[in-house]
Amino acid sequence: MQRRGQSLRQPYGAYLSARDGHSDEELCRVGRGTPCGEYLRRFWQPVCTEAELGDLPRAIRILGENLVAFRDGSGRVGLLERRCVHRGTSLEFGRVQERGIRCCYHGWHFDVDGTILDTPGEPPGSSLRRRLCQGAYPVEVWRGLVFAYMGPPGERPPFPVFDAFEHARATGVMRVRHSPCNWLQVNENETDPIHLSFLHTRLFGVQFEPVYGEIPTMEWEETPTGMIYVTVRRWGEHLYLRTNDMLLPNAVRVAGINDAESETLFDRRGSALSWVVPVDDTSCFSIGWSDIDKEFEIPGRDGYVDRQVRGGAYVVGSGDVGQTGDPPYEARQRAPGDWDAWVSQGPVTLHSRENLASTDRGVLMYRRLVREGIRAVAEGKAPKGLHFDGGGERFTCCNNTVARIPAPADPEADRRLRLAFGREVTRRILAGEYSKEEPGCADPKRIEEIRRALE
Ligand code: FES
Ligand SMILES: [Fe+2]
Repeated sequence: MQRRGQSLRQPYGAYLSARDGHSDEELCRVGRGTPCGEYLRRFWQPVCTEAELGDLPRAIRILGENLVAFRDGSGRVGLLERRCVHRGTSLEFGRVQERGIRCCYHGWHFDVDGTILDTPGEPPGSSLRRRLCQGAYPVEVWRGLVFAYMGPPGERPPFPVFDAFEHARATGVMRVRHSPCNWLQVNENETDPIHLSFLHTRLFGVQFEPVYGEIPTMEWEETPTGMIYVTVRRWGEHLYLRTNDMLLPNAVRVAGINDAESETLFDRRGSALSWVVPVDDTSCFSIGWSDIDKEFEIPGRDGYVDRQVRGGAYVVGSGDVGQTGDPPYEARQRAPGDWDAWVSQGPVTLHSRENLASTDRGVLMYRRLVREGIRAVAEGKAPKGLHFDGGGERFTCCNNTVARIPAPADPEADRRLRLAFGREVTRRILAGEYSKEEPGCADPKRIEEIRRALE
């Protein structure tokens, strides 16, 4: 008698396959007091765009907490618990004041740090307001994004400035709409470079450029700020390296997608820096900056609209191929995108039913790093990626590099050459060899050095 619930190892064996399974709770739960929730709360997280703060308070939900964000009349941004400390009315119905916000129900008046400024219905001598506070989180506004620190007050790190902030050619704020799934499966997409060859190129037509149909050599490496993938593709007589950063715990710096056909390129920097911020365990949103060179050249397709620009903020729409669930269902079936790939894994994927392969080494590395960070926090230590020194820019490696290096006759020798090229470029970038030449980054001298090193 064959038993159900085992790994599927035979044709026509669905009857036998496991139907239950479980998620990796340690990595996926984000609420207060959960191991990962505590880990993510040690880092500054972007919670909304500045442009979203108009004259009305904005209800937001981050890491399973209901909050309200607003900009008061004097220009200060507040992020308060949504539930009024008095009797729980939502501050999304509050009235923004010159200083802070007033609850709609009985007029209690809160400053941006949660201090109660006034309890107008109480007797004049009441000490109530000095004995209580509305819950509040500290915020930083940086280049159009509002960041919050939601961790223990005594452990707030300095606001981190990544070198990518300064590299950005454009300062457009982008906000990708929500994904109704756990944050980790969205971020894992960025540690999984081979899906470019299939999802984005071979299976449904060329979504970016034909070069991505080539299967690259792939390696993953830890960096001071997290990890990178290093992919190298052969394109005629050229080698094309593409490296993306995963900045712990939940940000990615992605390289441009239009550089492959350059003649010579060294360390051409990224096209976007964005965070996947958990709303709760089963939904998240992406937010960050875009500096894609050719963003307006992304072709519109049936059922797709072009990227829209609203009030100086790039709103990532369905023109960004596959980044939202906006296109009609059939259009997404005919040409699915990243959004369909990660959302369709389920609200929280069942990790126990995965069968990871050699190309998932980046996914495994990322999960390990997140897990190590979670455990470090649980032990009272600083997780990787968190810096308390305050000074200097945080290092990112994301780059495109192209060199003319014709292929040897033997495919295996070419594979080794691509790996060696990837390692040589990565070694230089990890050692701090930036190309600060913008735009262009044609750096023939450096490329010549790399070619010589490979010989
Ligand atoms: S419930 Fe907010 S002031 Fe009473
Ligand atoms: Fe993708």
